[in-house]
Amino acid sequence: MILGIDGYLGWPLALRMASKGYEVIGIDNMATRKSVEEVGSISALPIKSMDERVKIANKEFKGKITFVKGDITDYKLICDTIKEHTPETIVHFAEQRSAPYSMIDVNHATYTMRNNINGTINLIYAIRGADLDTHVVKMGTMGEFGTPKFDIPEAPFVDVEIKGKRDKITTPKWGGSWYHWTKVHDTNNLLFANKLWGITMTDIMQGPVYGTRTSEIKSEDLFTRFDFDAVWGTVVNRYCVEAILGEPLTPYGKGGQIRGFLSLQDSMDALTLLIENKPKTGEYRSVNQFMELLSVNEIAEIVKTEAAKLGIDAKIKNVENPRVEEEQHHYNPERTVLPSLGFKLKVQMKDAIGEIIKDLLPNKNRLENYKDVLLPKTRWR
Ligand SMILES: NC(=O)c1ccc[n+]([C@@H]2O[C@H](COP(=O)([O-])OP(=O)(O)OC[C@H]3O[C@@H](n4cnc5c(N)ncnc54)[C@H](O)[C@@H]3O)[C@@H](O)[C@H]2O)c1
Repeated sequence: MILGIDGYLGWPLALRMASKGYEVIGIDNMATRKSVEEVGSISALPIKSMDERVKIANKEFKGKITFVKGDITDYKLICDTIKEHTPETIVHFAEQRSAPYSMIDVNHATYTMRNNINGTINLIYAIRGADLDTHVVKMGTMGEFGTPKFDIPEAPFVDVEIKGKRDKITTPKWGGSWYHWTKVHDTNNLLFANKLWGITMTDIMQGPVYGTRTSEIKSEDLFTRFDFDAVWGTVVNRYCVEAILGEPLTPYGKGGQIRGFLSLQDSMDALTLLIENKPKTGEYRSVNQFMELLSVNEIAEIVKTEAAKLGIDAKIKNVENPRVEEEQHHYNPERTVLPSLGFKLKVQMKDAIGEIIKDLLPNKNRLENYKDVLLPKTRWR
């Protein structure tokens, strides 16, 4: 079962699982489509309605995808769907996933809190109510940790000594937006549910994902959404659209902000591995899911170089940082779970940018009308 099946990650995962012969049940309330429209933007790659793309995918792959339109903050809906389909695994993507959107004003902050935290609580109560041994794969973010001066552990707890006494505490976290704090609160709630009821969990701390293609997305009919505006676009995808529109690539502030990036293909491969290698029943597994540590300045250089190979002369222009964040910092997260399961990196960013730009170019004329959504309008301070 995939919660958030209409999303950037949900749709490719549905295709991946269907292509492997699994039965896939997906829930989505179409919130991202509406919220992207709300800020005056669109998906850079045109995407079909859920009904249309499910029909195409079910013709192409041997598995079967069933779509349920609904909101997971509706407890009855999620209970009924889980009871009806008794899923072996539930992958939970169905959250408001934009940090800038959560920072627009109090209404966007409280919506993000309600949507994300209540949805996750509903999910764990629904599993408990159905009395199933379901593996919950919850998508959190590396952003839960912030950018601490210590090396980021890949564990839910760390040992500490406070005033001479030793104990274990939850791994220290410091979200950088209301959105990131909802993910921290989710992690705490999931840890508590695991302690109370022994629900088997994989809590993934994932870095920003980029790209348009996976092994299953070969035709445009199966494209997943691709956001590029200042509210919904993550940095790599945003730079690629800036490049094709002849606009400067715009790192925020000094541009020394480092994050752990990964391609859509590698994200799907990692998720498949985690789904097919579940933890022991009752275990809580924390996973740091990223591939390459790069600063936003380094990424701008990569996009500039790869765009030049396609005849595009992209300029780089650092702009005022709307966020409140460190612009030069230590960043060294631990990553052992995925390598221990045999994960092999397939895509390096420098090899993926050309393909993304080629997929975007046929949409250049359509996107010319959306240049005004490239630069941030919300200041976080
Ligand atoms: N894309 C990334 O780079 C990235 C990185 C780290 C973590 N994540 C996390 O992974 C998850 C998926 O990300 P994505 O990029 O696919 O986002 P997305 O917004 O494209 O997909 C999320 C989907 O969930 C749906 N949804 C939201 N609230 C819902 C609700 N209450 N009920 C039913 N459906 C609901 C949305 O309509 C959307 O289709 C999110 O939780 C996000 O925070 C994403």
